[in-house]
Amino acid sequence: MAEKQDVVIIGAGAAGMMCAIEAGKRGRRVLVIDHARAPGEKIRISGGGRCNFTNIHAGPKNFLSENPHFAKSALARYRPQDFVALIERHGIAWHEKTLGQLFCDHSAKDIVRMLVTEMKAAGAELRLETAISAVERTASGFRVTTAAGTVEAASLVVASGGKSIPKMGATGLAYRIAEEFALPVVETRPALVPLTLDPAQLQKLGALAGVAADAEARFGKTAFREAVLLTHRGLSGPAILQISSYWREGAEIVLRLMPDIDIAAILRGMRRTNGRQAVQTALGDILPRRLAHFFVEEAKLTGRMLADLSDKVIDGLSASMQAWTLKPAGSEGYRTAEVTLGGVDTRALDSRTMQARSIPGLYFIGECVDVTGWLGGYNFQWAWASGFAAGQDV
Ligand code: FDA
Repeated sequence: MAEKQDVVIIGAGAAGMMCAIEAGKRGRRVLVIDHARAPGEKIRISGGGRCNFTNIHAGPKNFLSENPHFAKSALARYRPQDFVALIERHGIAWHEKTLGQLFCDHSAKDIVRMLVTEMKAAGAELRLETAISAVERTASGFRVTTAAGTVEAASLVVASGGKSIPKMGATGLAYRIAEEFALPVVETRPALVPLTLDPAQLQKLGALAGVAADAEARFGKTAFREAVLLTHRGLSGPAILQISSYWREGAEIVLRLMPDIDIAAILRGMRRTNGRQAVQTALGDILPRRLAHFFVEEAKLTGRMLADLSDKVIDGLSASMQAWTLKPAGSEGYRTAEVTLGGVDTRALDSRTMQARSIPGLYFIGECVDVTGWLGGYNFQWAWASGFAAGQDV
């Protein structure tokens, strides 16, 4: 005899646990199944161990999706303030770091503990280290076959996340389930991920590994203003992670280093007041020194005095830094990507409830849906909001 539940949720991550709490509060009998040893592993490691659990500015414009309107309903019904109120009820101290990003003062583990406590209080059961071997539809709902037996439920919520960081248990199960039920899936790709450079570029830029600079990273009309970091493999830092979600293979990105200042104007001013200094010395006062030396060398100006440079040469040197065009060779892939772009096609889902339009009782929430947030707490906000939406309906 199969075990009976009202709701089975696959995945005890951010979205699955939020959904379990909400469904449990409504008096539904809820079972959450996960193959991992512990719930909320990505929460635990997120934000450098402090979890950037939301962003106070979160709105539909901060998400990528083939249907940018899809996220509106869920985001409007569960706002960043709602999550802040929840953690404050649990006495979890938090602070805003930058750009509306909210972090725990102490540890991301506080958030995991809070969610587990809330699930218990709502009567939801958590079953860990349980592998799933099959998911089928029955006359009255769904049957989930696991290594520990069979469970039947009227509602099945798929909250198993994306493909990023397979070492942490990401499997892409949600996409397989969607396909088994003939639901469309938007092509997936690694996002919020460092970009790599080819060996020739790396040889040229090798000496810059470890250098960080304030920059605007642009791809087409999309630009992000944050730090860029040069690494032994290529480009990283928040501005690069952000732009990686938009970048496509074969295309170029443009970096504007020190976007707040007009480097050419500053160099011209220095030429007037102290023209007898070497160009790399002058530039070293504006940019990190290794970067300054790199661009001066690239322009073949090493050892030249500022006084010897024409306006045209200064403009060219400035443009090499403020319109620095690079063609990434690829990305570091799912191994290091923070999220998966694409996923279960939102056209197949009801935006108010996350229920599949063609399969009553089947829900997809969190990262496995084709809604991907920017860096900065937006992805957790989507997980909470979509989990909350489904939790009111299952
Ligand atoms: P999530 O991946 O959290 O949970 C899915 C669950 O399903 C997991 O517990 C997994 O074990 C389980 N599962 C998978 N396959 C299964 C299977 N076959 N059988 C059974 N169970 C299965 N976002 C943000 O907003 N702020 C931040 O600070 C960060 N920081 C961050 C750091 C790092 C290193 C990463 C990798 C990611 C982030 N993110 C982030 C992104 C954020 O972690 C992500 O968007 C959410 O965890 C997605 O929540 P979900 O619940 O959808 O999936």
